[in-house]
Amino acid sequence: MKLSIAHLSGDGVGPEVTKQAVKCLQVVGEIFGHKINFKEALVGEVAMAKTGEALPDSTLKLCKESDAILFGTVRNSKNNRDLDGIMKPESGLIKLRKELELFANIRPVKVFPSLIEKSPLKKSVIKGTDFVVYRELIGGIYHGDKSINKEKTVATDVCTYSESEISRIAHLAFKAAKVRRNKVSLVDKANGLETSRLWRRVVNKISESYPEVTLEELFIEEAVMEMILRPKQFDILLTSNMFGDILSDEGGVIGGSIGLLPSASVGDKYALFEPIHEVLLHQKGTNKANPIASILSAAMILDHFGLDEESRAIVIAVLKSMKKGIVTPDIEKESTYGTEEVGDYIASKITDSEENLTFSRENIWLGKSTII
Ligand code: IPM
Ligand code: MN
Repeated sequence: MKLSIAHLSGDGVGPEVTKQAVKCLQVVGEIFGHKINFKEALVGEVAMAKTGEALPDSTLKLCKESDAILFGTVRNSKNNRDLDGIMKPESGLIKLRKELELFANIRPVKVFPSLIEKSPLKKSVIKGTDFVVYRELIGGIYHGDKSINKEKTVATDVCTYSESEISRIAHLAFKAAKVRRNKVSLVDKANGLETSRLWRRVVNKISESYPEVTLEELFIEEAVMEMILRPKQFDILLTSNMFGDILSDEGGVIGGSIGLLPSASVGDKYALFEPIHEVLLHQKGTNKANPIASILSAAMILDHFGLDEESRAIVIAVLKSMKKGIVTPDIEKESTYGTEEVGDYIASKITDSEENLTFSRENIWLGKSTII
């Protein structure tokens, strides 16, 4: 297969972690005989410094011409939060998602067996955790009208959802549940928000077309609590943009480090893959950032294009690094392995051997979560 990938490393630890993901994809290309080409483009604060825009037109153009986007993180400087400016680095990512109509952000949360002791939660609570957050990504409060009065004493963010916006991601969530454990948990605030009541109406109606899938409804405050108390109960969590942002970071804590979790943002035409963590500025340039979220995002790219065996080869190499203790200091405090060493080790363990084919199904991390 021929794949062209737009590599938008961005700011913070983005360049360091995506470099490892690129390395792994290059190895996959060599071993499995695929032509995977990368083209780099600017986004975020580095783009602002060079072009004045967080999302230059040339970057958007490249993304539209590519099969997939490998994204790092955005924001480089801690102290220059220009609260009034519209050209904040994050706007580059938010605009890119909107322009490409990446309406579904898919964030799998699974506890890695060999890291189970690293979680702040009890082993008995988290063992077997395996859920996926389906977060609506281009609507809701992130994208509604925003305003502040002249005196800067009153501000407004409008939250709007339409039936069609809810319905397209809901269908994806139900389809995903059908090939998993047949359960969708809708997370909202229907006791306070009109948009949440619309979500409930639309999702309930859609659930009638998926009789094998059980639908449950939870308020956001219940969901955050249940996720910590009984994470195993969840299969697919379906939710709006802002609640999904919060829930997926919370999910990152369960497995011991947010540096482990990948994500896919998909629409009808384009797909973007990025870690769920943010810039981790304190780790920038220290070779300490965990590259696994980005490497698993690369595995999700392969999964998205139906390259199951290739995706599995990356996941298995990741599992081997964990088993061997070749991990960054966020996992093992005393570890002397850095971003680069962990990336090298994982890349060196990618093979198309029999061992991978017979690796227990249970250990396979991603599954077909990103296929629309
Ligand atoms: C994420 C991030 C972004 C978001 C930021 C960087 C705009 O937190 O992808 O979760 O809030 O969506
Ligand atoms: Mn976030």
